[in-house]
Amino acid sequence: MTAVRQLKWLIPTLLGILYFGLAPALSQLDYGFMPKGGKSLLLEVLGSPLDEKELRKVIEARRSEAEWRETLAARAKTLSEREQRTLAAYLAFNMPMQDPKGTAEKAGKPAELYAALPRDGRELAWNECQICHSLFTSHLTQDRGVQAWLNMFQSPFHRGIKMTAQEREEFARYSAINMPMKIDDVPRDLRF
Ligand code: HEC
Repeated sequence: MTAVRQLKWLIPTLLGILYFGLAPALSQLDYGFMPKGGKSLLLEVLGSPLDEKELRKVIEARRSEAEWRETLAARAKTLSEREQRTLAAYLAFNMPMQDPKGTAEKAGKPAELYAALPRDGRELAWNECQICHSLFTSHLTQDRGVQAWLNMFQSPFHRGIKMTAQEREEFARYSAINMPMKIDDVPRDLRF
């Protein structure tokens, strides 16, 4: 076999090793290392099994952040100060829940109803920002306020991101409260 022919095999083999070795390692990562978003925190506060009536009350309520904090104060004691702020911001901004497709109305089980709730900042960042670049430099290590996060969506390369105005606002609020993260808290594989 000539050197050229050997090379012909070498490259696909190396790519194969890279793909089957590295890809599963990366895909096993999830957003568990990131500070929890409002949707996850709500589940923690309501506890399981989920009470459908109670969840419907939350979905239909209109309260300010301060009012949500007051309402949940007794039950949110196990949450840190930052988590309480994250949860209150999520609820104040996303509730009463808009349900144009009637998903929440049709939901049969409490778990289905919960699933219909709007995605929180952590879910949005994990799913919507890594398509084009790493999350580490664009989000996890950025120190910005709500308005600066909203401005980010105005740059030419971000205008096309498929996130509704409400999702952008939720993302901005979550990020202003919870970012930047400590580098040591970010998995090594994501520090690029
Ligand atoms: C459609 C592709 C795309 C998506 C999706 C995307 N970005 Fe970007 N982003 C870019 C490009 C292109 C740049 C500029 C080049 C670079 O720095 O890589 C950039 C740069 C940035 C920068 C540095 C410049 C600036 O605007 O301040 C930040 C911060 C950033 N992105 C945050 C985010 C966040 C947060 C999300 C998710 C909500 C996101 N990006 C989703 C394409 C994208």
